[in-house]
Amino acid sequence: MAVKTWAYPIGNKSKWSYRESMKHLITNGAFAWGIALIAVSRVVSAGEPDQGRELYRKYCASCHGAQGTGDGPVSPHLKVKPTDLTRLKKENRGIYPLGKVMSSIDGTRDVRGHGDAKMPVWGEVFEKEAEAKRYPTLTSLLKVKVIAEYISTLQR
Ligand code: HEC
Repeated sequence: MAVKTWAYPIGNKSKWSYRESMKHLITNGAFAWGIALIAVSRVVSAGEPDQGRELYRKYCASCHGAQGTGDGPVSPHLKVKPTDLTRLKKENRGIYPLGKVMSSIDGTRDVRGHGDAKMPVWGEVFEKEAEAKRYPTLTSLLKVKVIAEYISTLQR
């Protein structure tokens, strides 16, 4: 299956951007891509704000807070304070940096400081959770995207 040849560069310091990855994925066959999307959209219905909120509450709110301001119940116990996710747009000259946020959440692409792993590498977590599914990498990518889109609605 063409899609399987798209290896996620987990763990290494690969500088693959989402753009390059997507390009690679697409050149691996629009057909496989289409099938994969149909398969995955059954698992994650991309674009549904409720889904994003649900995922955010489940995986992120404990640290980043229900509103995204970085004051979740776990945050006082952390050495590094969770980022205030409501300011991402403001801090990027008024443009919500979707791609960068996705890379930060995914974490497998060496965008944020790994080292002592202040924040879990969600790309690996989501992919592991979807291991039994047909397209774990795509499922993970879509989850990351849906969450990043939800965070865009929290901007102030
Ligand atoms: C265990 C606590 C914890 C959880 C859970 C958590 N984060 Fe974080 N997050 C952090 C901390 C701490 C930072 C700041 C330090 C860093 O950049 O690693 C951070 C930073 C970020 C950043 C900014 C990274 C950057 O490059 O500046 C984003 C975006 C983010 N988190 C999104 C998420 C999302 C989305 C989830 C849920 C899928 C999530 N976080 C879950 C602790 C957490």
